[in-house]
Amino acid sequence: MTNDALKILRFFRKKGKGEMEVPPLEKRPRHIAFIMDGNGRWAQKRSLPRSAGHAAGTEALREIIRACDEFKIEVMSIYAFSTENWNRPQEEVNALMKLITKYFLSEIDELHEKGVRIKILGELDRFPGEQKLALQNAMERTKNNQGLKLNIALNYGGRAEIVRAVKSISQKCINGEMKIENIDYDAVSREMYTMGDPDVDLLIRTSGDMRLSNFLLWQTWYAEIIFNPIYWPDYNRQTLIKDLNEYAMRDRRFGRVKTK
Ligand code: IPE
Ligand code: IPE
Ligand code: MG
Repeated sequence: MTNDALKILRFFRKKGKGEMEVPPLEKRPRHIAFIMDGNGRWAQKRSLPRSAGHAAGTEALREIIRACDEFKIEVMSIYAFSTENWNRPQEEVNALMKLITKYFLSEIDELHEKGVRIKILGELDRFPGEQKLALQNAMERTKNNQGLKLNIALNYGGRAEIVRAVKSISQKCINGEMKIENIDYDAVSREMYTMGDPDVDLLIRTSGDMRLSNFLLWQTWYAEIIFNPIYWPDYNRQTLIKDLNEYAMRDRRFGRVKTK
Protein backbone atom coordinates (compact mmCIF):
# COMPACT_ATOMS: atom_id res chain seq x y z
CA MET A 1 0.00 0.00 0.00
CA THR A 2 1.38 3.43 -0.88
CA ASN A 3 1.91 6.12 1.75
CA ASP A 4 -0.81 8.21 0.17
CA ALA A 5 -3.34 5.39 0.29
CA LEU A 6 -2.42 4.80 3.92
CA LYS A 7 -2.96 8.47 4.72
CA ILE A 8 -6.40 8.35 3.11
CA LEU A 9 -7.32 5.22 5.04
CA ARG A 10 -6.18 6.86 8.24
CA PHE A 11 -8.54 9.79 7.60
CA PHE A 12 -11.42 7.35 7.39
CA ARG A 13 -10.46 5.35 10.43
CA LYS A 14 -13.23 5.56 12.93
CA LYS A 15 -12.59 6.45 16.53
CA GLY A 16 -13.78 4.24 19.38
CA LYS A 17 -17.20 5.86 19.65
CA GLY A 18 -17.77 5.62 15.93
CA GLU A 19 -16.39 9.11 15.46
CA MET A 20 -14.29 9.84 12.41
CA GLU A 21 -10.91 11.52 12.86
CA VAL A 22 -10.58 15.17 11.94
CA PRO A 23 -7.92 15.48 9.19
CA PRO A 24 -4.56 16.95 10.29
CA LEU A 25 -4.41 20.75 10.49
CA GLU A 26 -2.52 21.21 7.21
CA LYS A 27 -5.26 19.29 5.37
CA ARG A 28 -8.07 21.40 6.82
CA PRO A 29 -9.51 24.40 5.01
CA ARG A 30 -8.49 27.83 6.34
CA HIS A 31 -11.83 29.31 5.35
CA ILE A 32 -15.15 27.43 5.28
CA ALA A 33 -18.34 29.01 3.98
CA PHE A 34 -21.74 27.52 4.79
CA ILE A 35 -24.98 27.99 2.89
CA MET A 36 -27.26 26.87 5.72
CA ASP A 37 -30.18 25.69 3.61
CA GLY A 38 -33.18 23.42 4.16
CA ASN A 39 -34.68 24.80 7.39
CA GLY A 40 -38.12 25.13 5.79
CA ARG A 41 -38.13 21.61 4.35
CA TRP A 42 -36.89 20.19 7.64
CA ALA A 43 -39.90 21.73 9.37
CA GLN A 44 -42.32 20.77 6.61
CA LYS A 45 -41.27 17.12 6.91
CA ARG A 46 -42.34 17.29 10.55
CA SER A 47 -45.56 19.27 9.87
CA LEU A 48 -44.10 22.22 11.75
CA PRO A 49 -44.13 25.91 10.73
CA ARG A 50 -41.08 27.10 8.78
CA SER A 51 -40.05 29.25 11.76
CA ALA A 52 -39.55 26.04 13.77
CA GLY A 53 -37.06 24.97 11.13
CA HIS A 54 -35.16 28.24 11.52
CA ALA A 55 -35.10 27.79 15.29
CA ALA A 56 -33.75 24.25 14.89
CA GLY A 57 -31.20 25.68 12.47
CA THR A 58 -29.75 27.91 15.16
CA GLU A 59 -29.06 24.81 17.27
CA ALA A 60 -27.04 23.34 14.41
CA LEU A 61 -25.24 26.65 13.99
CA ARG A 62 -24.30 26.68 17.66
CA GLU A 63 -22.71 23.24 17.35
CA ILE A 64 -20.88 24.03 14.11
CA ILE A 65 -19.39 27.32 15.37
CA ARG A 66 -18.01 25.44 18.36
CA ALA A 67 -16.66 22.64 16.16
CA CYS A 68 -14.93 25.09 13.78
CA ASP A 69 -13.36 26.80 16.79
CA GLU A 70 -12.21 23.47 18.19
CA PHE A 71 -10.81 22.38 14.79
CA LYS A 72 -8.81 25.61 14.49
CA ILE A 73 -10.54 26.77 11.31
CA GLU A 74 -9.39 30.37 10.75
CA VAL A 75 -12.49 31.78 9.09
CA MET A 76 -16.08 30.58 9.01
CA SER A 77 -18.60 32.45 6.86
CA ILE A 78 -22.29 31.72 7.18
CA TYR A 79 -25.16 32.78 4.95
CA ALA A 80 -27.88 33.90 7.34
CA PHE A 81 -30.04 36.20 5.19
CA SER A 82 -29.64 37.11 1.53
CA THR A 83 -30.64 40.26 -0.34
CA GLU A 84 -33.21 38.01 -2.07
CA ASN A 85 -34.68 36.71 1.21
CA TRP A 86 -36.56 40.02 1.67
CA ASN A 87 -38.95 38.64 -0.94
CA ARG A 88 -40.23 35.98 1.47
CA PRO A 89 -43.59 36.49 3.24
CA GLN A 90 -43.35 39.38 5.72
CA GLU A 91 -44.22 37.04 8.56
CA GLU A 92 -41.24 34.80 7.86
CA VAL A 93 -38.89 37.78 7.44
CA ASN A 94 -40.02 39.15 10.82
CA ALA A 95 -39.60 35.78 12.52
CA LEU A 96 -36.10 35.44 11.07
CA MET A 97 -35.10 38.93 12.21
CA LYS A 98 -36.30 38.21 15.74
CA LEU A 99 -34.51 34.89 15.82
CA ILE A 100 -31.22 36.34 14.57
CA THR A 101 -31.23 39.09 17.21
CA LYS A 102 -32.22 36.69 19.98
CA TYR A 103 -29.53 34.26 18.93
CA PHE A 104 -26.77 36.85 19.03
CA LEU A 105 -27.87 38.37 22.30
CA SER A 106 -27.81 34.95 23.92
CA GLU A 107 -24.53 33.79 22.36
CA ILE A 108 -22.36 36.87 22.31
CA ASP A 109 -20.87 36.54 25.79
CA GLU A 110 -19.75 32.99 25.25
CA LEU A 111 -18.40 33.68 21.76
CA HIS A 112 -16.49 36.69 23.06
CA GLU A 113 -15.03 34.58 25.84
CA LYS A 114 -13.85 32.04 23.27
CA GLY A 115 -12.08 34.81 21.39
CA VAL A 116 -14.41 34.69 18.37
CA ARG A 117 -14.27 37.76 16.14
CA ILE A 118 -17.66 38.60 14.63
CA LYS A 119 -17.99 40.47 11.37
CA ILE A 120 -21.21 41.17 9.49
CA LEU A 121 -21.05 40.89 5.70
CA GLY A 122 -23.79 43.00 4.13
CA GLU A 123 -25.62 46.27 4.65
CA LEU A 124 -27.10 46.73 8.11
CA ASP A 125 -29.09 49.84 7.24
CA ARG A 126 -32.19 47.89 6.32
CA PHE A 127 -32.43 46.26 9.75
CA PRO A 128 -34.66 47.51 12.55
CA GLY A 129 -32.81 49.90 14.88
CA GLU A 130 -32.67 47.57 17.85
CA GLN A 131 -31.23 44.75 15.79
CA LYS A 132 -28.75 46.95 13.99
CA LEU A 133 -27.45 48.15 17.32
CA ALA A 134 -27.10 44.61 18.71
CA LEU A 135 -25.13 43.54 15.64
CA GLN A 136 -22.91 46.63 15.66
CA ASN A 137 -22.18 46.07 19.34
CA ALA A 138 -21.23 42.44 18.66
CA MET A 139 -18.78 43.54 15.96
CA GLU A 140 -17.32 46.34 18.05
CA ARG A 141 -16.94 44.22 21.16
CA THR A 142 -15.19 41.32 19.41
CA LYS A 143 -13.16 43.16 16.77
CA ASN A 144 -9.77 42.60 18.43
CA ASN A 145 -10.35 38.95 19.27
CA GLN A 146 -7.75 36.55 17.93
CA GLY A 147 -9.74 33.30 17.69
CA LEU A 148 -12.14 32.03 15.03
CA LYS A 149 -13.20 34.73 12.59
CA LEU A 150 -16.95 34.39 12.22
CA ASN A 151 -18.42 36.19 9.21
CA ILE A 152 -22.19 36.47 9.21
CA ALA A 153 -23.74 37.33 5.88
CA LEU A 154 -26.89 39.35 6.58
CA ASN A 155 -28.73 41.26 3.90
CA TYR A 156 -25.82 40.03 1.83
CA GLY A 157 -25.59 39.53 -1.91
CA GLY A 158 -22.47 38.64 -3.87
CA ARG A 159 -23.39 40.88 -6.79
CA ALA A 160 -24.20 43.81 -4.49
CA GLU A 161 -20.79 43.33 -2.85
CA ILE A 162 -19.01 43.44 -6.21
CA VAL A 163 -20.92 46.54 -7.33
CA ARG A 164 -20.00 48.20 -4.02
CA ALA A 165 -16.32 47.38 -4.65
CA VAL A 166 -16.45 48.73 -8.21
CA LYS A 167 -17.96 51.99 -6.94
CA SER A 168 -15.37 52.37 -4.21
CA ILE A 169 -12.44 51.71 -6.56
CA SER A 170 -13.87 54.10 -9.16
CA GLN A 171 -14.20 56.80 -6.51
CA LYS A 172 -10.59 56.27 -5.41
CA CYS A 173 -9.42 56.60 -9.02
CA ILE A 174 -11.42 59.81 -9.47
CA ASN A 175 -9.96 61.19 -6.21
CA GLY A 176 -6.46 60.35 -7.42
CA GLU A 177 -5.93 57.90 -4.49
CA MET A 178 -5.56 54.97 -6.85
CA LYS A 179 -4.29 54.36 -10.38
CA ILE A 180 -6.20 52.17 -12.83
CA GLU A 181 -3.04 50.16 -13.57
CA ASN A 182 -2.82 49.26 -9.87
CA ILE A 183 -6.22 47.55 -9.84
CA ASP A 184 -5.42 43.87 -9.40
CA TYR A 185 -7.01 40.87 -7.63
CA ASP A 186 -5.65 41.96 -4.25
CA ALA A 187 -6.95 45.50 -4.69
CA VAL A 188 -10.43 44.16 -5.44
CA SER A 189 -10.28 41.70 -2.50
CA ARG A 190 -9.49 44.63 -0.21
CA GLU A 191 -12.83 46.21 -1.16
CA MET A 192 -14.85 43.15 -0.16
CA TYR A 193 -16.50 42.77 3.24
CA THR A 194 -14.11 39.85 3.79
CA MET A 195 -11.08 42.12 3.45
CA GLY A 196 -8.04 40.50 5.08
CA ASP A 197 -9.51 36.97 5.11
CA PRO A 198 -8.14 34.16 2.94
CA ASP A 199 -10.39 33.15 0.01
CA VAL A 200 -12.93 30.42 0.68
CA ASP A 201 -11.30 26.97 0.55
CA LEU A 202 -14.44 24.95 1.15
CA LEU A 203 -18.06 25.86 0.46
CA ILE A 204 -20.68 23.59 2.01
CA ARG A 205 -24.34 23.87 1.03
CA THR A 206 -26.83 21.69 2.80
CA SER A 207 -30.34 20.64 1.63
CA GLY A 208 -29.41 19.08 -1.71
CA ASP A 209 -29.90 22.26 -3.74
CA MET A 210 -26.89 22.80 -5.94
CA ARG A 211 -26.38 26.49 -6.55
CA LEU A 212 -24.52 29.47 -5.10
CA SER A 213 -27.58 31.68 -4.57
CA ASN A 214 -25.44 34.83 -4.78
CA PHE A 215 -23.06 33.89 -1.95
CA LEU A 216 -19.42 35.07 -1.86
CA LEU A 217 -19.09 35.10 -5.65
CA TRP A 218 -15.64 36.70 -5.62
CA GLN A 219 -14.19 34.75 -2.68
CA THR A 220 -15.28 31.27 -3.85
CA TRP A 221 -13.44 31.53 -7.18
CA TYR A 222 -11.42 28.33 -6.51
CA ALA A 223 -13.33 26.90 -3.55
CA GLU A 224 -13.99 23.19 -3.29
CA ILE A 225 -17.73 22.68 -3.11
CA ILE A 226 -19.67 20.07 -1.16
CA PHE A 227 -23.41 19.78 -1.66
CA ASN A 228 -24.55 17.84 1.35
CA PRO A 229 -28.11 16.51 0.90
CA ILE A 230 -29.10 16.75 4.57
CA TYR A 231 -31.15 19.69 5.83
CA TRP A 232 -29.27 22.30 7.85
CA PRO A 233 -30.98 21.54 11.23
CA ASP A 234 -29.61 17.98 10.92
CA TYR A 235 -26.06 19.12 10.17
CA ASN A 236 -23.80 18.42 13.13
CA ARG A 237 -20.20 17.94 14.29
CA GLN A 238 -20.11 14.46 12.76
CA THR A 239 -21.32 15.55 9.33
CA LEU A 240 -18.81 18.40 9.43
CA ILE A 241 -15.97 15.98 10.17
CA LYS A 242 -17.13 13.81 7.26
CA ASP A 243 -17.11 16.82 4.94
CA LEU A 244 -13.67 17.86 6.21
CA ASN A 245 -12.42 14.38 5.31
CA GLU A 246 -13.88 14.68 1.84
CA TYR A 247 -12.16 18.06 1.45
CA ALA A 248 -8.84 16.59 2.61
CA MET A 249 -8.98 14.07 -0.24
CA ARG A 250 -9.63 16.63 -2.96
CA ASP A 251 -6.76 17.46 -5.29
CA ARG A 252 -6.70 21.24 -5.57
CA ARG A 253 -4.88 21.96 -8.81
CA PHE A 254 -5.68 25.64 -9.40
CA GLY A 255 -5.35 25.00 -13.14
CA ARG A 256 -2.04 23.16 -12.84
CA VAL A 257 -1.48 19.43 -13.33
CA LYS A 258 -2.00 16.81 -10.65
CA THR A 259 -0.21 17.56 -7.37
CA LYS A 260 -0.36 14.24 -5.53
C1 IPE B 1 -32.33 28.46 4.88
O1 IPE B 1 -33.42 27.62 4.94
C2 IPE B 1 -32.42 29.57 5.88
C3 IPE B 1 -32.61 30.91 5.31
C4 IPE B 1 -32.74 31.20 4.06
C5 IPE B 1 -32.65 31.99 6.26
P1 IPE B 1 -34.68 27.87 4.02
O2 IPE B 1 -35.65 28.72 4.74
O3 IPE B 1 -34.25 28.37 2.70
O4 IPE B 1 -35.26 26.40 3.89
P2 IPE B 1 -35.83 25.73 2.57
O5 IPE B 1 -34.78 25.85 1.52
O6 IPE B 1 -37.09 26.46 2.22
O7 IPE B 1 -36.07 24.31 2.95
C1 IPE C 1 -29.73 30.88 0.42
O1 IPE C 1 -30.79 30.04 0.59
C2 IPE C 1 -29.72 31.95 1.48
C3 IPE C 1 -29.47 31.51 2.84
C4 IPE C 1 -29.18 30.29 3.22
C5 IPE C 1 -29.52 32.55 3.83
P1 IPE C 1 -32.19 30.27 -0.17
O2 IPE C 1 -33.06 29.15 0.26
O3 IPE C 1 -32.68 31.64 0.06
O4 IPE C 1 -31.74 30.13 -1.67
P2 IPE C 1 -32.60 29.75 -2.97
O5 IPE C 1 -33.72 30.74 -3.07
O6 IPE C 1 -33.09 28.37 -2.79
O7 IPE C 1 -31.63 29.86 -4.11
MG1 MG D 1 -33.71 27.49 0.95
